[in-house]
Amino acid sequence: MNAPTTPQTGIVNPPAAFASQAAIGSMDAYRALCERAESDYAGFWGDLAREHLVWKQPFTKTFDDSNKPFFKWFEDGLINVSHNCLDVQIERGLGNKAALIFEADDGAVTEVTYSQLLDKVARLANVLKAKGVQKGDRVIIYMPMSVEGVVAMQACARIGATHSVVFGGFSAQSLRERIQDTGAVMVITADEQRRGGKSLPLKAIADEALAKDCPSVRTMLVYKRTASDQVAYQAGRDLDMLAEMAQQSAVCEPEWVSAEHPLFLLYTSGSTGKPKGVQHSTGGYLLQAKLSMLWTFDLKPSDVFWCTADIGWVTGHSYITYGPLACGATEIVFEGIPTYPNAGRFWDMIQRHKATIFYTAPTAIRSLIKAAEADEKIHPRSFDLSSLRLLGSVGEPINPAAWTWYHENVGGGRCPIVDTFWQTESGAHLITPLPGATPLVPGSCTLPFPGIMAAVVDETGKDVPWGQGGILVVKKPWPSLMRTVWGDPERFKKSYFPEDFKGEFYLAGDGAVRDPDTGYFTITGRMDDVLNVSGHRMGTMEIESALVSCTELVAEAAVVGRPDDTTGEAICAFVVLKRPRPTGDEARQIANELRNWVAKEIGPIAKPKDIRFGDNLPKTRSGKIMRRLLRSIARGEAVTQDTSTLENPAILDQLTERV
Ligand code: WTA
Repeated sequence: MNAPTTPQTGIVNPPAAFASQAAIGSMDAYRALCERAESDYAGFWGDLAREHLVWKQPFTKTFDDSNKPFFKWFEDGLINVSHNCLDVQIERGLGNKAALIFEADDGAVTEVTYSQLLDKVARLANVLKAKGVQKGDRVIIYMPMSVEGVVAMQACARIGATHSVVFGGFSAQSLRERIQDTGAVMVITADEQRRGGKSLPLKAIADEALAKDCPSVRTMLVYKRTASDQVAYQAGRDLDMLAEMAQQSAVCEPEWVSAEHPLFLLYTSGSTGKPKGVQHSTGGYLLQAKLSMLWTFDLKPSDVFWCTADIGWVTGHSYITYGPLACGATEIVFEGIPTYPNAGRFWDMIQRHKATIFYTAPTAIRSLIKAAEADEKIHPRSFDLSSLRLLGSVGEPINPAAWTWYHENVGGGRCPIVDTFWQTESGAHLITPLPGATPLVPGSCTLPFPGIMAAVVDETGKDVPWGQGGILVVKKPWPSLMRTVWGDPERFKKSYFPEDFKGEFYLAGDGAVRDPDTGYFTITGRMDDVLNVSGHRMGTMEIESALVSCTELVAEAAVVGRPDDTTGEAICAFVVLKRPRPTGDEARQIANELRNWVAKEIGPIAKPKDIRFGDNLPKTRSGKIMRRLLRSIARGEAVTQDTSTLENPAILDQLTERV
């Protein structure tokens, strides 16, 4: 392979053939964009918003920072996201182009053109209106990966309803909390989801959620995915989504909304309290979802784009439902899991659908490496992956070994890898290579997206020298930045624009260090109590609250993360029971019970990998849990911290013991 690698430095330059056709084909072109943004920030974004979005009524003012940190972009512009994603593409002549290539868990493939997608979206939008959903109302979407999931989101956008997608792996309790917090008037769900050859309930969980204290919900639309006869329908509340759509007109005039209108809420974990509803705008959000498709993914009309994320996460919002469609792209939507029917599924799908851009998470890569190395038949080299021209990574740091394997075995040494750093809150990529311009270094997300004023600072907000670790901030608000925490503006202010930086800088929550020579960013991990397990974000406090809510068993619990080869981080819980400390089989059995309890409270993704029992937790004499010490124990490191203030040093031995 003609891999353009310089082994001495580990730098991988953009292949000349890629650079020559790229939207941004050199570092000079990249720097020119950054300089324009530096010298005329509002002008830079304003021009892009006029160039890339279609407005019903143009905006007259680009940026309003009169009420910091509640920034506004393009506010008096009128726009509709679904119009930009569908009608505009059809007007451009793409009506018969495949918008979605949907592959079901069992391998069945359905193609949906732009015209067909608009037909579905308009019909569902008309169903929503007929059921009384109005502009500004919240709609909860609890759906599997499906055409209908994308349609549900776009239909909300079409009528100006604000959707909140809840990942299909969340429990009834988590779903209920989101329904209550949003005050949703409708839930859109499916009877069941298909994953790995199994049917898993969705409607039954939604029923359980709605059974208690959700008076705002009037209607539940049910997409019959499996048409299971096990699923009960409540008369007057539950409706068959497809049957309702069939009765509606396929024409629905978009609701023109202000660019600041809330397109969606998406709940994510912070270091304290319950998950917060990250509120995104319409115009600024769509601009950057689209722009990152064009610049980070260098999207061309001929591309077949595949983002493997779930629509329940922000990556599925920006890089499945909105960004690709706003560009008129053809994209793959996959219902299943990477290991079914075997761990060659991704490579097989890339080969069959001739995917050109593939965007996935390091966890997936790491688990597929293990499987591939054990079985030649499912190794990427057993497939024809020559259609690929670009690879992407998202959600967590990608370690250089996984990067190199991905580059060589999936990308054939010829495809650049964009390691995209961003967050639910940022709406779109913050720090990422541009594949035709940026020389790549495995393990580094390289440089800020043009217009993103990222920096590494100390506690006082002063830039730290390159080479020195610090706090990652963004010094100016950008169009796709979240607008607020739903229902809790104070929390937005405190969490993201803290007084430490005079309320001026956006605090990402991650640590970072810049390379002393190149200034490239490497993310060093969260600086708060947020864990990242398989790219899923969770707060340690949420898991602790779930554990102690098992009041019959648990007296106290502390949760920390520890590094894990496959999932990046693993959840480790230290638990004090209301009964004597168990050992052996009893300990294993209770640990399992608690894992299932957490799965029921939050969802299976929050199950602690490691549960340990102690007669107490290590606390200082003032009663504070010594988390740093627990982190050392979880990692299997020798405890070097000063334990002289510990109330009861003997419990360290107990907590070191694995169940
Ligand atoms: C982490 C996912 C290193 C980071 C889009 C961030 C990353 C959190 C990367 C956001 C990356 C995401 N390199 N770390 N390329 N991408 N992260 O909200 O800690 O689910 O703060 O958004 O994931 O997770 P979220």
